[in-house]
Amino acid sequence: MKNVFITGGAGYIGSHCAISLFKNGYNPIILDNFSNSRSSVIKNLEIITDKKITFYDVDIRDKKKLISIFKKISCYAVIHCAGLKSVAESIRRPIDYFDNNIGSTLSLLECMRKSNVFKLIFSSSATVYDNNQLLPLKETNKTGNIKNPYGNTKYIIERILMDLVKSDYRWSIRIARYFNPISNHSSGLIKENPKGIPNNLIPCIIKVAQKKLPILKVFGKNYKTKDGTGVRDYIHVMDLADGHVAMIKNNRLKKGLKIYNFGTGKGSSVLEVIRSFEKHTGILISFKFTKRRTGDVAESFCSANKAIKELNWKYRYDLKQAMIDIKKIL
Ligand code: NAD
Ligand code: WQD
Repeated sequence: MKNVFITGGAGYIGSHCAISLFKNGYNPIILDNFSNSRSSVIKNLEIITDKKITFYDVDIRDKKKLISIFKKISCYAVIHCAGLKSVAESIRRPIDYFDNNIGSTLSLLECMRKSNVFKLIFSSSATVYDNNQLLPLKETNKTGNIKNPYGNTKYIIERILMDLVKSDYRWSIRIARYFNPISNHSSGLIKENPKGIPNNLIPCIIKVAQKKLPILKVFGKNYKTKDGTGVRDYIHVMDLADGHVAMIKNNRLKKGLKIYNFGTGKGSSVLEVIRSFEKHTGILISFKFTKRRTGDVAESFCSANKAIKELNWKYRYDLKQAMIDIKKIL
């Protein structure tokens, strides 16, 4: 069984990738400092997969510790999910974001090179695209002009990786640009579980459903969209996880750098998401319209045709299924 290291593997996306890897005959090795996750995730992954999970409590900026892990366990490829991800927090704490996200990537790249591991998948984001472009967004669309430190860390890391493959032909790098990952494994045992106050739509809806937040604020009602609220491309996290495996399997990690969008290609508005949640969970969400959130775009959705063609991947779960799975964690 090939070992695939997942940095940030106890987090939301990394933990779902671990399930997909097992399902496809790979052995995930989790590396996480638990800064935004809980160790109980490991136990729950073991219940879901009925396998022993190898994990290391490590800050991947700690090169000494990281390299010792690469020495101990042979590594086929690395899925690099570790990072801080709150846009709002990054505006308050830009240095922490640059240090953690870029610092950890540089540390990882150095340890990989020293250990002769050259296959890397990087968790990037739709946020790297320049906003003023025709939709759907394709991998060839313009990037940059980003308005917050979090997005800039993703953009800068992408540039670092692009320079790296030019200077050293041994690297196989895949940049996965996630659109809006939502939902959870159908067992309901693992989920998006940020430690601080959530900013994203679904975690906020869940908090309202659980009566941990009194009301959902819908940011803006007069966008030029189907119903005036923001439109996004929501992708089920299990589809996203399968996308990572699709980049790895069938010896697809050939040398060079490739970029893939991961989304459904369909946009849903905030009101559609609320209605779908209500319909499939049976819980009503009280909400009020407030002013637009700074930095938000009206609409964003992608073309995932490149992943569909080159990776033989396609999304399987729609918004309805995403909500049915969310019901399991309520
Ligand atoms: P998450 O916070 O749930 O998971 C990230 C994990 O990384 C956490 O478990 C955290 O403890 C760990 N971590 C952070 N810094 C670390 C470090 N220095 N060393 C070791 N572990 C560290 O976030 P997620 O939603 O799973 O996101 C995973 C990746 O995907 C992130 O890089 C994020 O920027 C990117 N991404 C997420 C989304 C989204 O909406 N969730 C969208 C696009 C891109
Ligand atoms: C979705 C829609 C909001 C919360 C962010 C990051 C992006 C990426 C994914 C990591 C928008 C509206 C939200 C709320 C609302 N993360 N909304 N009330 O903004 O597309 O992307 O997460 O890379 O970088 O920017 O996702 O879930 O925050 O918002 O009305 O309480 O829901 O205005 O239209 P977004 P989101």
